[in-house]
Amino acid sequence: MSVSQRARNLVPSATLAISATARRMRAEGIDVVGFGSGEPDFDTPDHIKEAAIQAIREGFTKYTASGGIDELKDAVVAKLKRDNGLTYGRDQILISCGGKHSLYNVFQALLEPGDDVIIPAPYWVSFPEQVKLCDAKPVFVQTSERQGFRLHRTLVEPLVTPRTKILVLNSPCNPTGAALTKEELSGLAALAVERGFWLLSDETYESLTYDGHQHVSIASFGDQVYDRTILVNSLSKAYAMTGWRVGYTACLKEIIKAMDGLQSQMTSNPTSIAQRAAVAALTGPQEPTFRMREEFDRRRRYIVERLNAMPGVSCLSPQGAFYVFPNVSGTYGKRHGETAVTNSTNFSAYLLSAARIAVVPGVEFGSDAHIRISYATSMANIEKGMDRMAEAIRQLR
Ligand SMILES: Cc1ncc(COP(=O)(O)O)c(C=O)c1O
Repeated sequence: MSVSQRARNLVPSATLAISATARRMRAEGIDVVGFGSGEPDFDTPDHIKEAAIQAIREGFTKYTASGGIDELKDAVVAKLKRDNGLTYGRDQILISCGGKHSLYNVFQALLEPGDDVIIPAPYWVSFPEQVKLCDAKPVFVQTSERQGFRLHRTLVEPLVTPRTKILVLNSPCNPTGAALTKEELSGLAALAVERGFWLLSDETYESLTYDGHQHVSIASFGDQVYDRTILVNSLSKAYAMTGWRVGYTACLKEIIKAMDGLQSQMTSNPTSIAQRAAVAALTGPQEPTFRMREEFDRRRRYIVERLNAMPGVSCLSPQGAFYVFPNVSGTYGKRHGETAVTNSTNFSAYLLSAARIAVVPGVEFGSDAHIRISYATSMANIEKGMDRMAEAIRQLR
């Protein structure tokens, strides 16, 4: 049997693989501290769960419209108005099975084979793989750590060609936590209008920003930019709803229509029950999200301080999301017994075997000098994990 070239070319999600390894080790009785996971360690708030239970009790358990129920689309419209000052109609919204599915729909609806998609690096692992699934080409624009992994139009401009179809924006960014300012976004928006490409704005981490950073959606920079922006967001991180699988897209209705058609043949609809829960999340009290953000912020400060105290490690303080992306290349070239550390993959493997902590190698996100640590785990775990990492690094000679 041979599977398709397409399936063979795909790199499976490294972040999901690390989480699976940590889970397996734990099942074997090994005390692993998991820093791999990209999901809040908090429980889904009760009022959201109650809405789902109510939906089940009412028998709201059948197929829905492929693009989502009107009630949820209206809740998304209201959210985009309330939080982002953006006006959309119901026919400009598509509900999908998580933000990842929303992004996949966008690429499938817009890309032709041979199109270029500009992706800022370091990048979230799924962007290039989803682009490749459309026989299109990821073109990476390298952001620099020295400049805080910031994206500026001067970095993007030299890469724009007539083949450029989409620029992917992910602010706040997974894995770096960098969040773009109004000025940076405005420059990128102007470039998109001048050169005629789409802006795919993944705002999954919008509710998790720190140090007074205010999230701004690039769609808010005037009518021309609004028309060129495809806004994707998810309930996963903001409401601790990773398992419910609800994400959404807002953009011109012609694109929504195309994506709805694709979705109708691929998944039918997002889960009816999860959609009712999503209505409760978007329209109900937002305090649980604010509380999560406060706790993430506390952990962020702690972890950045601990990492910067480790020899060979330096870590920027991220403005958003729940990841840190420390540079660990100062440890490369050292060894512990037979184990040599030379790159992010064997450094991460060393941390797993010597310190029993699971992190994701930066190479998976396009930077081999770094590792990604998720602080979506308890403070006790973070303290334990940082102690172990410091000790493992001390043992390198
Ligand atoms: C940048 C980014 N976008 C989108 C997603 C998708 O999340 P979900 O499919 O759970 O909505 C993730 C999840 O890790 C992410 O990190």
